Amino acid sequence: MTKTILRALAGETLPTPPIWMMRQAGRYLPEYKATRAQAGDFLSLCYNPELAAEVTLQPIRRYGFDAAILFADILLLPQALGADLWFVTGEGPRLSTITSESDFAALKPVSAIDDTLSPIYETIKILRRELPEETTLIGFAGAPWTVATYMIAGQGTPDQGPAHALKDGNRALFEQLLDRITEGTIEYLSRQIDAGAEVVKLFDSWAGSLKGADFDRYAKEPARIITQELKRRHPGIPVIAFPRQAGEGYIGFHAATGADCVAVDDSVTPEWAAEHVQVSGCVQGNLASSHMVTGGDALVAATRRVVKAFSKGPHIFNLGHGITPDGNPENVQLMIDTVRGS
Ligand code: CP3
Repeated sequence: MTKTILRALAGETLPTPPIWMMRQAGRYLPEYKATRAQAGDFLSLCYNPELAAEVTLQPIRRYGFDAAILFADILLLPQALGADLWFVTGEGPRLSTITSESDFAALKPVSAIDDTLSPIYETIKILRRELPEETTLIGFAGAPWTVATYMIAGQGTPDQGPAHALKDGNRALFEQLLDRITEGTIEYLSRQIDAGAEVVKLFDSWAGSLKGADFDRYAKEPARIITQELKRRHPGIPVIAFPRQAGEGYIGFHAATGADCVAVDDSVTPEWAAEHVQVSGCVQGNLASSHMVTGGDALVAATRRVVKAFSKGPHIFNLGHGITPDGNPENVQLMIDTVRGS
């Protein structure tokens, strides 16, 4: 029997939506923290295929989610393209910055990425052997705009100011960088699929800060190029696009990009997303991740509301964004039980 997530991605309306959770392997889980301590730092964990596979499997063992997402990070591709990358505890990622033609010229060609990223493909091979047969394996990458925001600023930024400044101040350089990331993303995801990823997801976490024509050029268009090329090379592999906080930009995103599923965050209501986005295809989402902290009757009511709103079309249940480290593992179980109706 075809796996439930693949059925939803093929456009089927299921009586119970399949479920997985963004950041399901993460610091809210004690077993994740233990393996992370064993690995040393976060990047060592990402590049250790045995341990990366182990943390990917932990939430599957604990909860029986319908999908596993590869344990890695969107910032490994910039590193493979030659950016320095490190994580500052309690603060987040730091990268060497790209703000001039000479910074860009020092980057590596796309053909070099496997020198860095081959352990990731190894993790995928281990997972395909060890996952239960009903569990779908999702590979992923960052979308070019979101990856560029980190490469330009050298860190996360509240408003993506440095990336907007480069886009508006030196559009030629900005577009060269975006093109390099787009090509690298195609190769990286293609290799993930070769290794055994059954679905791929593009995380455009900062798509919401692109407005008007910029949204079309730098969120929709790269997603379209990546999706089309992956579908040419790997017919039948579904693509999930996540242009987070796109608002009205979610409308028409399936058709403009060819993505099989559009993931929506919780800045839009599920009723709105059902009416305006699910009409065009499968949607994924969109319970507020704060319910994983607060739990209780409000969690149950909000979970039921999401399930009901999306019940007339293809739907994959998920949060609107990743679970936070203060999420309570018992609340995750309550969400799953509510979705599955037990
Ligand atoms: O969802 C999963 O469980 C799969 C693995 C995954 C991680 N990051 C692991 C991770 C995925 C899909 C990502 C995507 C990612 N990484 C995004 C896009 C999605 C989003 O959340 O918007 C972004 C923007 C990043 C970049 C990144 N990685 C940041 C900004 C940070 C620091 C903030 C934080 O949460 O600590 C990370 C670190 C990171 N990536 C952790 C994990 C489990 C925490 C690292 C740790 O163990 O200390």
